[in-house]
Amino acid sequence: LPDAQVIVVSNREPYIHNEDKNGEVELVVPASGLVAALEPITRACAGTWIAYGGGTADREVVDSNDRVQVPPGNPSYTLRRVWLTEEEYQGYYLGFANEGLWPLCHIAFTRPIFRDSDWEAYEAANRKFADTVVAEARNERPIVLVQDYHFALLPRMIRERLPEAIVITFWHIPWPNSEVFSICPWRERILDGLLGSSIIGFHTQFHANNFTESVDRFMESRIERADAAVSYGGQTTLVHAYPISIEWPAEMLKALPSVEQSQQHIRERFGIPADAKLCVGVERLDYTKGILDRFHALEELFIRHPETIGKVVFLQIAAPSRGTLPAYKQLHEECLRFAEELNERYGNETYRPVVLVAQHHSQKDVYEIYRAADICLVTSLHDGMNLVAKEFVASRDDEQGVLLLSTFAGASRELLEALIVNPYDAAMMSETMLQALTMGPEEQRGRMRRMRDIVRDNNVYRWAGSMLLDAARLRKRDELDRV
Ligand code: G6P
Repeated sequence: LPDAQVIVVSNREPYIHNEDKNGEVELVVPASGLVAALEPITRACAGTWIAYGGGTADREVVDSNDRVQVPPGNPSYTLRRVWLTEEEYQGYYLGFANEGLWPLCHIAFTRPIFRDSDWEAYEAANRKFADTVVAEARNERPIVLVQDYHFALLPRMIRERLPEAIVITFWHIPWPNSEVFSICPWRERILDGLLGSSIIGFHTQFHANNFTESVDRFMESRIERADAAVSYGGQTTLVHAYPISIEWPAEMLKALPSVEQSQQHIRERFGIPADAKLCVGVERLDYTKGILDRFHALEELFIRHPETIGKVVFLQIAAPSRGTLPAYKQLHEECLRFAEELNERYGNETYRPVVLVAQHHSQKDVYEIYRAADICLVTSLHDGMNLVAKEFVASRDDEQGVLLLSTFAGASRELLEALIVNPYDAAMMSETMLQALTMGPEEQRGRMRRMRDIVRDNNVYRWAGSMLLDAARLRKRDELDRV
């Protein structure tokens, strides 16, 4: 597909322009695994990225076609911003996407909320993005990379208007089993929309299978299990697992302080005593991430092994997002309350066992935190892949540090040398924390080395490459069929 135009569509934009306190424009790279993965790909193919412009200064920096060249300083692709009305944003993004599909697809026991008005806004927003894809397409046959659960209807809308486009849809979150999926009032519409894609990708085979089962149960379709394909309405869609990854951060690591300097810096910055081991968690403040379960495990550790009190600090970075939704507000409050309780119960003037920082951090800051950590905890209740686990591993060129990883994150299928935990089992997690705290440097090195090899080899270019290779095969087959 050498000359094909690549168009990426996601809700979240890779660069947000905001106005700061002094009225200056500041640039923010959002906390999103999707953005971390797709940004290097879009750079490499000099594509066009279409996304919602939600920054307070986003409108100030675009040209008359709503485009801005990024990354700033070294522009290599076009970011095309789409504006949504407040009502559309509420209904499509906060409502249907984040109160409906997000809890529907994650096993976190948060009840999905389905409102007619949200569905209408979701449909309208998908149509707005479809119009923008058509406007940005330079010919009839672009490759459109549709990202995530914000756009279940978009593949069909693109297919109707650009029948020869290759539409590769990647679903970054889990797909539930067909029984759970069946509670969505618009289940057939969602499946019909997605089946406008040439390829639908998931992180794990398990979620790809769940999707195929949902199609089998609710749609008039033929499932070709041997080819991992679904035929529906005269079109074939491949349904595959493509485990997502990161760009190996060789250049960034060169620009960062050494591990020793990072340790010193982060410990000073967050007031962490020199003789305490540092555990870190880095994510969005989201109920799927198992943040409270981590606090429970820490308390369990203190109860079972009181000698660890004073010897462990848990630094939790939690970037706020979707914070106006009740489920997120409640989680924020519970996290603050629990952290305070633990600090009162087990801390003193010089020792706070939990440091909770509910703020966004730059990528550079996050990498410094990873490099300062003795242990990184990724204890999601459910997660498509989880790129924090891979970033932590990539950041540790000293081959030290222990990763505790939830068995319910897709990353646990690849990072087998992590200490795998069940976040619902506080006792087991606390014992695993103890194992991590007491693990010798040689064992850490052995595990870290193997995980680094995996992340280096299975990087995000391989992820995109295998999807594009499948797309090229599909196009070839279509051409042969036409002869
Ligand atoms: C998950 C989703 C992404 C999303 C990210 C951040 O990783 O799969 O689509 O961008 O969370 O969430 P937000 O709502 O802030 O974009």
